[in-house]
Amino acid sequence: MILPALVQRDVSLTHFNTFGLPARAALFAAIETPEQLAALIDLPEWPSVPRFILGGGSNLILSGDFPGLMLQVRIPGRALLAETADAWLVRAGAGENWHHFVRWTLDHGWPGLENLALIPGTVGAAPVQNIGAYGLEIAERLQSVEAIALTTGEATIFDRTACRFGYRDSIFKREVAGLYLITAVTFRLPKPWRPLAGYADLTRELAAQQIADPTARDIADAVIAIRSRKLPDPAQIGNAGSFFKNPLVDAATFARLAAHYPDLPHYPQPDGTVKLAAGWLIERCGWKGRNLGPAGVYERQALVLVNRGGARGADVLRLAEAIRISVQAEFGVELELEPVVL
Ligand code: EPU
Repeated sequence: MILPALVQRDVSLTHFNTFGLPARAALFAAIETPEQLAALIDLPEWPSVPRFILGGGSNLILSGDFPGLMLQVRIPGRALLAETADAWLVRAGAGENWHHFVRWTLDHGWPGLENLALIPGTVGAAPVQNIGAYGLEIAERLQSVEAIALTTGEATIFDRTACRFGYRDSIFKREVAGLYLITAVTFRLPKPWRPLAGYADLTRELAAQQIADPTARDIADAVIAIRSRKLPDPAQIGNAGSFFKNPLVDAATFARLAAHYPDLPHYPQPDGTVKLAAGWLIERCGWKGRNLGPAGVYERQALVLVNRGGARGADVLRLAEAIRISVQAEFGVELELEPVVL
């Protein structure tokens, strides 16, 4: 196979995943423009090469080497598309760093993404798992997703409804998983801006700072303070953020659990189910701060698994499985992994 200059062979992925897991890609290409992708799609070998799309690698567990072509999205660009009476429309290239993008919107006086400050990863990955934190999910601010179909090279636009957003979920994780490469995302930041400060940790942090009437910048600063306290910085300790989704249980299961555990944190959902805090369940099983080989449970947030040094994907997955079994045995609740396992 004759490869374009863009494609490298046998590339280490250790620095391309925030868990710092060792793995190699047989082929690797950094995509900075849609035209570069089009050139790859035109190759005669393209249909037979397995591929995987990489953003910031912040929600990824590499269980071993990847035998195909790893496409790392580095498409840049940020712009205000329009300002209307009721919103700012802001577009960013999929390769932009998410937090830098949030900071840039705030610097320009376009609030609306402040609750999602300091989330690792890229703009293009944000809609894939519908990133959310401190009372806001990206689904609520998203206008459209631009993507290229990997089979045909055709450009497509997904509006918000077409993205089929759910809790840490979208069409890009399910029906069309692996079929599109997201090139850009447009956000709708509504006017008038109102603070979203109802999430318990955020309310507490603003009160502690004696801020009664927060600006968007105050909220971003409070979110950054909470995240920095509770979540490990991937530059220092390898991790992929929350390792499990917060489980949804039916009302009868919740009633049974609440009778045994009166302090069980719970969040009733519009459809009658109840969301539980996986971190609390894991902590109650005694896992917080514990290690299994080189993988561990972060001492300040039990929902986060960490690389204590030299962990491989298998070590992390072994720890995750032990935790899943404990929580199932103690509470009868099934935990589901949040990151993508490759
Ligand atoms: N809790 C414990 N022990 C722990 C961790 C949490 O008892 O070790 C309890 C807390 O006391 C609280 C409840 O669990 O009552 C919820 O904790 P927290 O507010 O820290 O949030 P979370 O449910 O653990 C979720 C998201 C995070 C997001 C925060 C804030 C998921 C899977 N995780 O965590 O997202 O930052 O809420 O909104 O929904 C991520 O997805 O990677 C992520 C970090």
